[in-house]
Amino acid sequence: MLVPAARHVARSAGHFLLTETTRIDAPPAIADLLRELLAQPTGLPLPPGTGGLSFQLDDAGPPAEGYRMSVTPQGVTVRAHTGAGLRWAVQTLRQLLPPEAYAATPVRGVAWALPAVDIVDGPAYPWRGALLDVARWAHPMPFVRRFVDLMAAHKLNVLHLHLTDDQGWRFEVRRYPRLTEVGGVRAQSPAGHSREQRFDGVRHGGWYTQRELRDLVGYAARRGVRIVPEVDLPGHVQAALAAYPELGNDPARRLPVRTAWGISPHVLNPSAATLDVVRHILDELVDVFPSEIVHIGGDECPTDEWRASPAALARVAELGLPGVCDLQRWYAAELATHLARHGRRVAVWDELLEYGAPADAVVFGWRSQERVAAALAAGHDVVACPHTHTYLDYGETGAEVPGEPVAARLGTPLSKVYGYRPPAPGPGRLLGTQAQLWSEYLPTPALVEYRAFPRLAALAELGWTGFGGDFPDFRRRLAGHLLRLDRARVGYRPPDDVQ
Ligand code: ACM
Repeated sequence: MLVPAARHVARSAGHFLLTETTRIDAPPAIADLLRELLAQPTGLPLPPGTGGLSFQLDDAGPPAEGYRMSVTPQGVTVRAHTGAGLRWAVQTLRQLLPPEAYAATPVRGVAWALPAVDIVDGPAYPWRGALLDVARWAHPMPFVRRFVDLMAAHKLNVLHLHLTDDQGWRFEVRRYPRLTEVGGVRAQSPAGHSREQRFDGVRHGGWYTQRELRDLVGYAARRGVRIVPEVDLPGHVQAALAAYPELGNDPARRLPVRTAWGISPHVLNPSAATLDVVRHILDELVDVFPSEIVHIGGDECPTDEWRASPAALARVAELGLPGVCDLQRWYAAELATHLARHGRRVAVWDELLEYGAPADAVVFGWRSQERVAAALAAGHDVVACPHTHTYLDYGETGAEVPGEPVAARLGTPLSKVYGYRPPAPGPGRLLGTQAQLWSEYLPTPALVEYRAFPRLAALAELGWTGFGGDFPDFRRRLAGHLLRLDRARVGYRPPDDVQ
């Protein structure tokens, strides 16, 4: 009863039992991961040696992130072409055990039995992501790590960390310390839905040091999850403007870090000096995050300030651009060129398509299925993440229900998420899909878990199996999977029986 489902599973008679004498024969990183995940709940020592769990790299193994696993009464044999394949096999092994394998403390009296089985497995898509918005609320680092654990348990491999926005800047930049010292704190936050225009009167602040983020990158890599950082530009920057007014279009204006949700009208100015600051910020970002892909945002950038600014208009003329909107294309192109010098590629939200995205940009189609199709038609590598199906901060129910937490929007039940089908690719490549957990209405880890699960399990299965799944079959497997989440103490929203 695997979630996500494996490509090919053949059950046979018998079991293999993990005991005090079971040994691990695997590359050190895989052996460490097996021990880290299994030693806690089972209390077993799992020392190195042959005659138990054999996880080996093999050039003849399934390609990319795939793996082959054979469980017989004598032991477990796994072969994969890459470390990623071996890591996903570790997660499959956990799922073959009783659900108590997900407990964080030793569970006594459990027979740690694995059913005899042959599995050939591998993902349909290389990008199986989740966006965590730590800008609106600075989620505690231990929770970010737990979220990585939960992603890996579902064979999700990309954590898109949304680090900056109007309401908070969470990435330490050594050259510009005010970004976090000033931009990392806001005076208060909305209470209830933003349309109520009520505020809580409570300061909220927090940020991550570069060292903490480097540790997170290593922690995630050991689990097969890579981190794609996002610094959102040239809009969604009011927190940065609060710290450094000279980056804005009216340097005499003192802006606070934005306290309301929604989109700030205040954006970066297009001066050469501001572009230099952004380049310096990205230099520090790529020093912390080894990801080949760096997300530079590009969504929801109002152009009113540029239209009203003599300096911005003069800059448009100086750069020989047809109009102010073209500043968005210019910003993206300049940053893509800069990041290319570091050997990196940009990712952008789909608004950039209208202005002209850099040719090799990965485009995140979020506004609609049509935008996903347009990005593919324009020849880009595309992550399909339309808000209608993949924004998990939207509530599950179709209408407000007493007792349900406030949600950004409504109407995204589990069945709808599972039913997402991306448009046909071509000439661009469909890299995969990703869930979004924007945090305006997810101020606490408990609320993130409530909204993420089990819908994140549905999205994980779409990316792994390739979008074709049968919902009743998924729903049946999910019943067993929820027992695992129970043991991991995930505060998921119990799925409605009728969707
Ligand atoms: C977005 O939701 N603004 C990408």
